[in-house]
Amino acid sequence: MKYLKILLLFFVVQVSAQQGGMWIPSLLEGMNEQEMTSLGSKLTAKDIYDVNNSSLKDAIGHFNGGCTTEIISPKGLILTNHHCGFGQIQSHSSLENDYLKDGFWAMNLNEELPNPGLYVEFIVRIEDVTDKVFVGVTDALTEKEKQSIITKNSNAIQKTVAKESWQKTKVKSFYQGNQYYLFVTERFEDIRLVGAPPTSIGKFGSDTDNWVFPRHTGDFSMFRIYADENNRPAKYSKNNKPYTPKHFLPISLDGVEEGDFTMVFGFPGRTNEYLPAVAIKHITEEYNPTNIAIREAALKVIDAKMKESDAVRIKYASKQARIANAWKKWIGENLGIQKSNAVEKRQEFEADFTKALAEKNLTEKYGNILPEFDRLYKDFAPINIKRRNFIEVFLVTNELMTMTFRAYQFEQAVLKDKKGFNKAKAAIERTLKGIHKNYDVEVDKGVFKNVMPFFNKNADASIYNNTAFTNLTSALALFDGKAKKVLKNLNNDAAYKYAKPMIAEFYNAINAEFGKKNEPIVALQKKYMKALMEALPNARYFPDANSTLRVTYGQVRGYAPRDAVYYNPVSYLDGVIEKYVPGDYEFDVPEKLRELHKTKNYGQYADKNGKVPVCFLGTNHTTGGNSGSPAIDAEGNLIGLNFDRVWEGTMSDMNYDPEICRNIMVDLRYVLFIVDKYAGATHLIDEMKLVHPKKK
Ligand code: ARG
Ligand code: GLU
Repeated sequence: MKYLKILLLFFVVQVSAQQGGMWIPSLLEGMNEQEMTSLGSKLTAKDIYDVNNSSLKDAIGHFNGGCTTEIISPKGLILTNHHCGFGQIQSHSSLENDYLKDGFWAMNLNEELPNPGLYVEFIVRIEDVTDKVFVGVTDALTEKEKQSIITKNSNAIQKTVAKESWQKTKVKSFYQGNQYYLFVTERFEDIRLVGAPPTSIGKFGSDTDNWVFPRHTGDFSMFRIYADENNRPAKYSKNNKPYTPKHFLPISLDGVEEGDFTMVFGFPGRTNEYLPAVAIKHITEEYNPTNIAIREAALKVIDAKMKESDAVRIKYASKQARIANAWKKWIGENLGIQKSNAVEKRQEFEADFTKALAEKNLTEKYGNILPEFDRLYKDFAPINIKRRNFIEVFLVTNELMTMTFRAYQFEQAVLKDKKGFNKAKAAIERTLKGIHKNYDVEVDKGVFKNVMPFFNKNADASIYNNTAFTNLTSALALFDGKAKKVLKNLNNDAAYKYAKPMIAEFYNAINAEFGKKNEPIVALQKKYMKALMEALPNARYFPDANSTLRVTYGQVRGYAPRDAVYYNPVSYLDGVIEKYVPGDYEFDVPEKLRELHKTKNYGQYADKNGKVPVCFLGTNHTTGGNSGSPAIDAEGNLIGLNFDRVWEGTMSDMNYDPEICRNIMVDLRYVLFIVDKYAGATHLIDEMKLVHPKKK
C-alpha cells in the first residue's frame, strides 16, 4: 500500500511535470521554480535570470533573429545548429571549397570567416510595461484606435527607457495583446564562422530523418562573437577581438539518462496554443493540405535536379531545406492532431469553458466569443487559402515570380514618387543579385510548371524564353536608364506582363480582403485569452511564443508513437553506422567517422557503457526558433543542443500533448567527439570548460 502511494505520488508529479509551456525568464519565481525543483532542478530562478549579477541568460543569444545560440567559452565561442549556420556555410562554399560537403574548421582565429549581415542579440533585461502601454486605451475606442495608441505608447517607452548608448530596446505583446514587456538588448554584428561538420554529419538523414526519431544527426556549427576594444557590440572590423562574455556554459561530460531534468533556454518563434477548435480544423483540414501539395510539387523538381548535379546541389541546398522543412512539419502536425483527437478535445474544453462562463456570470460578457469564432473563420477560410497559395507560389517556391513581384514593388515605388527611383532601383538590384547567386533556370522553370497551376490554371512556361529576368546581366540591364524607359521596358517583359495582373490582384484584392477578415479574428483572440483567464483562473497560462527569450523544462523521456512501438530516449553512434548507405545523399557516412567507430576511438566522450550518445529526447516544449537552444542540466551545465521535434509532436505549436510531444537534442558529447576526434580541432576543446557534475 505504501509502495502504491509512492508510485501514485510519482505518477502525479510526472504528469503535472509534463504540461509544457514556454515561460518568461524574469517571472520564474514561484510556480515554475517549484515545479522545476520537483523535476530535479537545483537551479534557482535567479541562477537563470538576474539583472544585477551574471546568470544563465547572459549566455543565450538570438542567432540572426531566427535561431538560438549559446556561449561556450570565455572567448566568445558560440554553438548553434548546422541548419542555423547553413546559409553562412553555404555562402563560403564553392565547388573548390565545398564546406557543405567536407566541413570547415578554422584552426586559429585568423582563419575564422566573417559573415556580413549575421548578428547575435542578448537580453540585458526584461520589464513589464503593460500599464504604461495601455495609458489612454479605453473600451469606447475601436480596435484600430486602440492599436494606434498602443503603438504610440510603445514607441515612447522604447525611446525614453534608461539604457546604455550601444543597447537597443523593443516592446513586445504577450497573451495576444493583453500584456506588454520591454526588452533591453545588445546586438553583436561581427560573428565569424569557426567550424562546421560535413553535411553527412550535420544533416545526416536529411529529409528522410528530419522531424523523426530515432535520430542520428550531428546538427551543430560553431561561430565566434567579436567585439570592439571595449568589449562592446561593433560592426565587422579586422581589429575586433573575441568577446569576453558575462557568462558562458560549462559542458557536462556526464550526459543524461531517462528521467533527468532538462531545461531548454532560447527564442521560440511562434505558437498558437489558445486557438478555438474551429481554427485547428481550418489549419489541419484546409490550410496545411494546400501548402503541403504546393511544396511537394516544387520539391519533386528541385530534389531530382540536386541529385543530378553538384552545382545545383550547392546552389539550392538552403532553399530546398527551407521548403522541405515546413512541408514535412505540416504533414506531422496533421498526423498528431488527428491521432490525439485534438479537435474533439478542444471542443470538449470549449464546453467546459462555456459552463464556467455561466457559473461565473460571465456569459453576457464573453458568451458570444465561440459562436463568433465559428462565423468569422467560415468567412476567413477561403481568402486565407487564396492568399497563402499566392505566397507559396510567388514568394516561397518560384524564383522568376519572386523577381517579378519585387519588380512590381519597384514600379509602384517609382510611380508613387519619381524621386525614389534610385532607392527602389538599389532594392531590386539587391534582390536580383541575391536570387541569381544561386539560380538555375531549368530548375526554376520546372518548379514554375508544377506550382503555378495552384494559383492560375494558365501556367504559360513560354515566358521563360522571352524574359530578361532569368539572366543576371539582362535582368540588371532592364533597370538601367531613366525611369520612364525602365518602366516601359519592364512592362514589355514577357514574365512581367504575365505576372503583373496577379500581383496587382494580390495587393488590391486578396491581401486587402485578408486584412479585413483577419483583423476581427485577432481582436477576438485577445478577448478570448482574457476570458479564459477569468473563467478558468486556476489553469496554467503561458504566453504564446513571440521570438522572445523563454524557458521550457521537462525530463529526458522516450515515447510510444504507435501501438507496440516505444522509442528509447537516447540514440548512439552505433545507429549512425546502422543507417549507413555508401554514397547515398542522405545516409552516407564519412570514412573517418566509420574508422573512429571501428577502432572505438572515443576518448572521453563515451558514456558508461562505452558508447557515444548522439541524440536524446525530452519533454521540453519547443518550437521553431528553439533550434540551437542549449539543453541545460539540473546544475546549469550544457548537455545538449536542441534542433528538432518528433513528427507526431509538431502539433505542440497548437496542442501540447505530454504523451507524444518530444524535443530532439544532440548530445554535447557527440558534438565534442566530432570537434575533437573527427576534426582534430582540439584548440576549441581547450577553450571550453568541461565538467563532471555526476562524479562528485
Ligand atoms: N526540423 C528542424 C527544424 O525545423 C531541422 C531542419 C533542418 N533541415 C532539414 N531539411 N533537415 O529546423
Ligand atoms: N528545427 C527547428 C528550428 O529551426 C526547431 C525544431 C522545432 O520546430 O521544434 O527552429
